[in-house]
Amino acid sequence: MSVTGIFTGDFHEQDKRWSAVDAYTISHLHPASRPNSKALIRALEYSRDQNLPDIASYPALGKFFALQCKAGNVKYALEIGTLGGYTSLWLATENHGIQVTTVEVNPHHAKVARENLEFGGVGDRVNIIEGAGLDVVPKLLEEVRAGEREKFGFVYLDADKENNWTYLDMAIGMCVPGATIFVDNMVSRGRLVDPKHQHEKNIAGARKVVEMVGNDERVDAVVMQLVGEKSYDGVLMAVVR
Ligand code: DHB
Ligand code: MG
Repeated sequence: MSVTGIFTGDFHEQDKRWSAVDAYTISHLHPASRPNSKALIRALEYSRDQNLPDIASYPALGKFFALQCKAGNVKYALEIGTLGGYTSLWLATENHGIQVTTVEVNPHHAKVARENLEFGGVGDRVNIIEGAGLDVVPKLLEEVRAGEREKFGFVYLDADKENNWTYLDMAIGMCVPGATIFVDNMVSRGRLVDPKHQHEKNIAGARKVVEMVGNDERVDAVVMQLVGEKSYDGVLMAVVR
C-alpha cells in the first residue's frame, strides 16, 4: 500500500519498511494540516479517477524537489513530463514566487494537470505547454538564447526516457550557474546495470545520460538510488557550473 493509499495497484515494487518510513516521516514533516496537503491529495485522487498512470512523484520526492527550489531561491523552474501536475503543484505551492514551465505531450494529462493546479491555487504560476518534448524544448532553448525567456534554476526531466540526454544537453544551455537538474527513473530496480536490460530504450537512455554527463565539463553530477512507495529507482542530480 502506498503512503497516500490513493493508487492501490501492485504496479510498483513495495517493501513494508520503505512504506512505513515514508508514512512516519511524512506524517511529522508534512502533515495533513499543511496548506497544500489537501490539493496534493486531491490531485492524486483526480489523476487516478481520470485514469492517469500511477507514475507521478510520491510525497517525499515531490517535497524534495520543492525544497531544492527553496534552497536555491529558484525563480524559474522547468519540467518535461507534466503528467497530472503533481510535481509542479509541489514546486509552486511550496515556493510562492516561483514560475514553473512544464511540457506535456498528452492533451488529457495536460487537462487534468490544469485542473489540479487551478484547484491548488497556482494555475497562474504554472505554464503548461502542450507538445512533444523534442519539439518544445528546442524552442525554449532558442527563446532563452534570444533573451526572450528567463534562464532556469531548477529542471526536472521525467518524460520519454530515451531522449533524456537530448533534453539534458538542451537544459544545461538554459540554466543559470548553480542550477540543479534532476533526471527521474535512472535506476529502474537496478536494470541500469543489468546486461539483460541494457538494450531497452529507457535503460539505454539512462546509460547514455550517465556516460555523456561523465564527460561533460558543463555539469557535475551524481546518481542517488531511492526507495519509497514507487519501487526501487533513483534520480541523477546535475549541478550546472
Ligand atoms: C515509471 C515510473 C516513472 O516515474 C515514470 O516517469 C515512468 C514510468 C514506471 O515505474 O514504469
Ligand atoms: Mg518518473
